[in-house]
Amino acid sequence: MVSPTLAEPGMPLAKSVPDVYIQFQSQTHAWRCVMLHRTGKFFPDGAGLTAEEVGPHTDHAGPATVKLHHVTLARPAFEAWLQGCVIEWAIMRVYWARDMSASKEALVDRLINVYGPPKGVTRLQCYPRSLEGWLGEQLPLTWELHPVTFTHTLHVVETEHGYAFELAPTAALFRSTAWTPARLDGLCKATAKLAEALAWARHAPGGGGAAIDLGSAPGGWSTVLSRYVDRVVAVDPAAMSPEALALPNLVHIRKKVEDALPDVRRALGGAGADLLVCDMNKHPLAMIAMVKPLMPLLKPGGRLILTLKFFSRSRGKAWDPHACPELEAFEDIQVLWFLANTAHERTCMAVKKL
Ligand SMILES: C[S@@+](CC[C@H](N)C(=O)[O-])C[C@H]1O[C@@H](n2cnc3c(N)ncnc32)[C@H](O)[C@@H]1O
Repeated sequence: MVSPTLAEPGMPLAKSVPDVYIQFQSQTHAWRCVMLHRTGKFFPDGAGLTAEEVGPHTDHAGPATVKLHHVTLARPAFEAWLQGCVIEWAIMRVYWARDMSASKEALVDRLINVYGPPKGVTRLQCYPRSLEGWLGEQLPLTWELHPVTFTHTLHVVETEHGYAFELAPTAALFRSTAWTPARLDGLCKATAKLAEALAWARHAPGGGGAAIDLGSAPGGWSTVLSRYVDRVVAVDPAAMSPEALALPNLVHIRKKVEDALPDVRRALGGAGADLLVCDMNKHPLAMIAMVKPLMPLLKPGGRLILTLKFFSRSRGKAWDPHACPELEAFEDIQVLWFLANTAHERTCMAVKKL
């Protein structure tokens, strides 16, 4: 819904193409979302020309909200993509905005005198949430408001430039406020990391081929990989879970990586691997040295995915894969901070040169 009337003095006209504000659980997730958007690979076409963090800063934390500027994807399509994407667990709320008011008071004035009450019931969804109570008090009784049964949503986001908002007919929210996202823990967080990496690299399930999973126990990554390729060769001296061992396309080589090369080659049956992944708890330098002997088993064009563990905030973060002789045979080398990575962890992605 775009207002046909002029904006407030000093404010831009309502936009025909909206901006979308995504509110995350934490500031670090918002920052990583901006970084992912900037890689140009993760989000679908039309999901914003640029991404930036917005919202109030405090001494302790920055904003936890990301603005995607100029979203041409239709609202139902984009929200469906968000619901199904691998970072969905980190998203709290999604707001759409086409218009802007300089102050809270100007917003109320504009809603009453320019927009008027919609034909139906409105659900308020504001960031910060305290705005909802305030706005509910300000709007006249002719605005029927209800948090559960509604025909329209009024989204409002406080930004440093004013209050971005949209009043639109829609009877559904991206997510019910009653729904609390499950915290990612243990195995689940491990699999989310790989799922995010594969989504970023635009790998689709059922692609065929083979994957080598180094440091595979108890089997979260192997389980994800088993959906993407025909054969998973998992290497770890530790036990795999019974669920992972029951996968029909998984072979577990119960050895250290350093001792497993002939077994991996045999398990691949002479074919190369399309994916070589490693999630061992090792410093990058130690890990790369252990992965190197297996790199010839990756096909040209095959993808390398390595979890980089740094063990402390200060130490070793400067490790540069671009200056790493072990990665000379690779291109498109990137170190990404996926939302499912921990604070001391990054993911290195690279493609073997053709
Ligand atoms: C963080 S866990 C991997 C979790 C796994 N990606 C998952 O999703 O279930 C790290 C694993 O690396 C394994 N590991 C450590 N050193 C290893 C080595 N030299 N060779 C093979 N595996 C090793 C450990 O036994 C451990 O199971």
